[in-house]
Amino acid sequence: MRAKDIAVIPGDGIGPEITQAVLRVVDAAAEKSKTDLNWIFVSAGLGALEESEELIPERTMTEIARCKVALKGPCTTPVGEGFTSVNVRLRKAFNLYAAVRPVRSLPGVETRYKDVDIVIIRENTEGLYSGVENEITPGVVMSMKVASEVACQRISSWAFKFANRRERKKVTVLHKANIMKLTDGLFLRCADEVHQNDYPNLGFESVIIDAGCMKLVQDPSQFDVLLLENLYGDVVSDLCAGLVGGLGVVPGANYGDNEAVFEAVHGSAPDIAGQNLANPLALLMSAVMMLNYLAETEGRGNYAACARLIKTAYDDALIAGETTKDLGGSLGTAEFADVIIQRIAQL
Ligand code: NAI
Repeated sequence: MRAKDIAVIPGDGIGPEITQAVLRVVDAAAEKSKTDLNWIFVSAGLGALEESEELIPERTMTEIARCKVALKGPCTTPVGEGFTSVNVRLRKAFNLYAAVRPVRSLPGVETRYKDVDIVIIRENTEGLYSGVENEITPGVVMSMKVASEVACQRISSWAFKFANRRERKKVTVLHKANIMKLTDGLFLRCADEVHQNDYPNLGFESVIIDAGCMKLVQDPSQFDVLLLENLYGDVVSDLCAGLVGGLGVVPGANYGDNEAVFEAVHGSAPDIAGQNLANPLALLMSAVMMLNYLAETEGRGNYAACARLIKTAYDDALIAGETTKDLGGSLGTAEFADVIIQRIAQL
């Protein structure tokens, strides 16, 4: 059987070091589970700009389209100036309209909350991330928030289908339709219609996002699946990461109808880049999501077994307190990977 080609974008900042750590772990689990994976390295972001003067070289686009699946490190976007986000561009180019971020309490990771089990589903292509900004007149600028019925229905259907398939109980839309009556109003109406027409047996509620944030930090266990437009999904993802141990432990996937790109919720963390301090777990968990996705979509191979090996190994490591500094441990990025590899060998 031919190895499965997977595009890999190491990215910027901590991206290359966490990507290297994660690939070492996945390679060890793949060898043990006899899973044939072939990494196709491509570039995007600052590194690509320096090498080829292109933020996303053509080869990166063609390889992602060919492989259909990519594992991606974070890419830096300059604040308040410079080029537009590589992440937003990739999501738009491949129409990766559904971002999925599971946020769960982890064994051995002490936080204020127990039993958090939330899945964030974020619309990934529209809203204020449409990138349409203008200077109307000197001193007055505007940013356009775009919502289309097609995209709002598409993400609503995706979210309810996901909730139903995973046997989740409730979908909550966080919105600001009291103020943004047209854009958020459309998003809310589409979610309500999909619920009433297709999934009346699932729970559904709508909560105005400011109150929703308060409720999230007060008692996150009241939430199950969260459905949000683009900007709210971005912000609430980091808020929810804070409920379970921080950005080092929340993975993510960006799904389109044809391609899927797996990446952590966190960014390129320039403050700790190159110091062997970054936690590679969020990207490793994203790789586990990728393997489980391949198990569902490829219909062959030992992807699920490979994913199980990695998950068991990192769960055991967390329980044993073998963690990086952000989780109170003392391991560096590379040493954490070494520990997981040793544990995989013993399973
Ligand atoms: P960030 O997520 O990179 O960092 C926020 C804080 O969390 C920092 O203190 C950082 O040290 C810490 N942190 C993040 N990931 C960590 C990890 N794996 N282990 C330990 N600590 C970790 O967010 P920030 O600083 O706002 O953004 C930095 C750059 O990343 C920006 O250029 C931004 O545009 C980009 N970014 C890229 C994303 C992507 O590629 N998907 C997502 C979010 C931001």
